[in-house]
Amino acid sequence: MPQTEIIQLDDPGNPTPGDREKLRAAGARIREGALAAFPTETVYGLGGDALNPESSRRIYAAKGRPSDNPLIVHVCSLEAIDRIADTSDPNFAKLADAFWPGPMTLILPKKEIVPRETTGGLETVAVRMPSDPVAALLIGYAGGYIAAPSANLSGRPSPTDAEHVIQDLGGRVELIIDGGENPIGLESTIVDLTVPDPVILRPGYITDKMLAEALGRPVETDRAILDPDSGKAPKAPGMKYRHYAPKGELTIVEGEESAVLAYLREAVQKAHGSGRKVGLIVTAEHAQALKADVLRCIGSRDREDEIAHNLYRILREFDDEQVEVIYSEGFADTGLGQAIMNRLLKAAGHRVVRV
Ligand code: TXA
Ligand code: MG
Repeated sequence: MPQTEIIQLDDPGNPTPGDREKLRAAGARIREGALAAFPTETVYGLGGDALNPESSRRIYAAKGRPSDNPLIVHVCSLEAIDRIADTSDPNFAKLADAFWPGPMTLILPKKEIVPRETTGGLETVAVRMPSDPVAALLIGYAGGYIAAPSANLSGRPSPTDAEHVIQDLGGRVELIIDGGENPIGLESTIVDLTVPDPVILRPGYITDKMLAEALGRPVETDRAILDPDSGKAPKAPGMKYRHYAPKGELTIVEGEESAVLAYLREAVQKAHGSGRKVGLIVTAEHAQALKADVLRCIGSRDREDEIAHNLYRILREFDDEQVEVIYSEGFADTGLGQAIMNRLLKAAGHRVVRV
């Protein structure tokens, strides 16, 4: 078991010379085969040298993750990508120009240099250029290619604060770089460019509309993600696992406002009747109107960015409070709401009540 060193930075938003020194040292450790958790604009990543098969093997072991689930290779410059992937598809330039650095991952044909351990045996590779300044510096110091899944133990919500990473990976990695809370709070949008028509494999902060505008044509989302009963396996191997799951049983309640409120009140009473600890995830609009053992306001309905930012933290808080049953309001399934509902549905194992 490695001894975990927590690296505190003076200004993660705008790293100081002292911060850069610490990141340079962390990058050198990654080159030597160490694992380092680090902040990005989406969620924390669990990073290792993407071109070192032993580092990728260690990432799977530290996370407790099946090794058929490929990792994302993080870069800090466009030029670096040609060494690891085929970027000749004209859609690549359109999307890279529009959204990088930023919360988007592109699936591309891989080159020989990328070990199969990193891509879970696939001939394609997921590439992302994060905008977070700490991530960008660390990637450069580590040699240009950091393989990183989200820095949670397999099955837990992705970490959106260094505290979550310490809970999950303390004693399992050499370094944890504390960059404070991640601004977005949900993982990147994944777009597959290895098929004739680009397709969204995982919705995120970069929405279908934004992608369509950059590409000059509509973009579909993988059917297996939108409809769990489609009988198809999702094309992003990771999307097939039940992720983000809180320990309590989560149900999403959808319908007309007054009916949802009435259902939630009754559900809380029923849970109490059977002696179970109950939690609610509600919007700011309804926080005053409801009561529960643990009531968490996820943000205003008009601020989907707040809802995205708070979701994983709240799911973890229910675990900390040992809540046994959880109910959540549902959200609009468009724009950023599509990513929010995708993660919430997975956390709920697709348990939805329509009232
Ligand atoms: O925002 C993010 O993307 C974060 C931060 C750390 O960058 N990373 C992240 O990684 O969410 P992870 O490993 O938790 O999720 C990566 C997803 C998985 O569902 C995986 O199956 C899919 O990307 N993926 C990776 N490589 C792929 C490939 N070659 N083809 C299809 N899907 C791929
Ligand atoms: Mg993940």
